[in-house]
Parts: sequence; C-alpha cells; structure tokens
Amino acid sequence: MYLRRPTDITPSTITPQEVYDSRRAFIKHAGLALATGVSAIQALHINIAEAAQPTIARQKLSGYSKTTYGANEKLTSYEDVTTYNNYYEFGTDKTDPARSAHTLRTRPWTVAIEGAVKKNKTLAIEDIMKLAPLEERIYRMRCVEAWSMVIPWIGLPLAKLIEACEPTGNAKFVEFITLADPKQMPSLRPGILDWPYNEGLRIDEAMHPLSIMAVGLYGEVLPNQNGAPMRLVVPWKYGFKSAKSIVKIRFTETMPQTAWVKAGPREYGFYSNVNPSVDHPRWSQATERRIGSGVFAPRIKTLPFNGYADQVAQLYTGMDLSKFY
Ligand code: MTE
Repeated sequence: MYLRRPTDITPSTITPQEVYDSRRAFIKHAGLALATGVSAIQALHINIAEAAQPTIARQKLSGYSKTTYGANEKLTSYEDVTTYNNYYEFGTDKTDPARSAHTLRTRPWTVAIEGAVKKNKTLAIEDIMKLAPLEERIYRMRCVEAWSMVIPWIGLPLAKLIEACEPTGNAKFVEFITLADPKQMPSLRPGILDWPYNEGLRIDEAMHPLSIMAVGLYGEVLPNQNGAPMRLVVPWKYGFKSAKSIVKIRFTETMPQTAWVKAGPREYGFYSNVNPSVDHPRWSQATERRIGSGVFAPRIKTLPFNGYADQVAQLYTGMDLSKFY
C-alpha cells in the first residue's frame, strides 16, 4: 500500500475507493441472490446493513459519557468503519481484517510498561479501562492514503494512562508496541513490515487532551479489526500513528524508530501531522475522499492538523514542518 516495492502493491492500493465500494456491494448482492434464489436486482433491495453481519460478536459498552467533540460531524457508517481497515497483521487488503481478525484473542490482555519509568509494571486491560471515566468522542480520522472517516470512539484520555505509567523526568518520547503473534495473526510474514508494528509520540503530544486510548466505537467494544482491545487515536496525525492492539508502552529519551519510518523513511516521518501543504512523494495530500460519501461526492479540502490546528499547532512552534514531516 505505502511502499514502492512491486510486491507491496495490493488490489486495494490500486482500486479507487468508489470502484472498491461498488464491487463490494455487487459481490454482496450477488452472493445474497445465489443464497436466497432471488435475482441480483431484487437482492439490491435487501437491507445491506442486515446482510453484512460482522465476523465477531458485538458487545455493548456501558458507563461511558457523551461529549461535545465532533457533535456536528456526519458519522461514517458502522459498516464502513469496521470493514474498510488497515491492519496488516491480518492482511493488506482493506477487507482482510474484518474477515480474518476473529482469531485475535483479546482476553486476558495485559500491557507491559517499561523504559524510563519509576518501575516496570504490567497493567491489565480491565484496570486501564478504570483509570478514567470512559468518554465518547467523535473524531475525524485522516489516512495518509488521502481518505478519511468520522468515527465515534470511546476511550480515555491518553494522559491518564501515561500518568499511571509513572514516567521519569528522562522520558521524552513514548513508544507503543503492538501484538505480533503468528498463531493469531495470519499475515505476520517477513517482508511486509518489521514486526511488531510500533508507533511513537513525543511526551507532550501523548499528554495532549485530544490524544485518547480507544477501547470502543459506536457504543460497543472495539471490534478486533479496529485494534481491540485498545488502540491509540491521535486525530491530528495520519491514521497510521494509531497503533492497534497495544501490548507494550515504553518510555525513552530518544525518538523511537517506528514501523513505517523504517519501511520508507523518505515517505513517512515520525511526526506525521496531517499537512495539506506537504505532499506524500507519490500523491497529493491537499484533498481527501470521505469514505461512504458516494461516487460523485466532491473531494474535501484537507485542513492543517486535520482541522485541530487551534488546539495543537502550538506543540510545533518554531519547527519546520516540511522537514519534520
Ligand atoms: N496498527 C497495527 N498494529 N497494524 C496496522 O497495520 N495500520 C495503521 C493503524 N494502526 C495498522 C495499525 C493504519 S495505516 C491506519 S490508517 C489505521 O490503523 C487504520 O485504522 P482503522 O482500520 O481502524 O480505520
């Protein structure tokens, strides 16, 4: 998807989203028609949402509060959020994770805390979820591939989790390391990325009130394909910063090397702030396609910091963002 090597070109990379959407709808309806004996045209009238049963059990999350974040945004459908995914451990096609991620076991789940901390420790997901009241926040998510979604996440402020980790004064960066278990992850092969997938933030970025650790979406426990049981959400950065299924948090004095920077340092930087004036070497970042908006919908102008500049731009005062991309 992101890399120059020919082996990295996947069908979803070279399939425009509207073609992908119509192909997916056709396959779904044709499949239904075969199964039920009705014509494909008749099948088109069958409720798509009912037909597309997710592969994993859906479980309601209780005890979270609504917030005003993104209250005026039009949400991307649950179906699009949970079937158009990037989770390479489960395949590089957009539809692979929804199909394959049922093999991920999310309980028991613990997160190791290490590096520049008062003392190493292990936190259970259940305890992490109690560190702060869970909140629903509607965030725009901008993928580096120039598409976007609007997702009602449920999570806790990342700052609360960082505080519970008790980093020392030496901690300048925080690294998030994700699960890499070939027994649960069918696509964990060499040559795709240097596993485990990892990401990182400067401590002040991690402590920013907009950064959250998500444990759910659309009122439910996070589906496996979206990074269960907990994944990062940093809405002013490209989506690849949002590491999924985190098992280790490490505090460091120096900037960590991250999976995408290792894979393509000319194309992906550590900061990865959404920036319409710094193009990816192979495509423009000036506009984006909102997933689910329809074949004829005009592209949306991408905003600096994904529209969150008034809240986060001061984190980068004095930095040349074309150099620190
Ligand atoms: N985390 C892991 N462990 N593996 C991945 O392949 N893909 C990233 C990010 N987190 C990825 C990951 C990318 S490229 C994006 S755009 C987002 O997850 C996609 O999140 P979504 O599928 O929930 O929209």
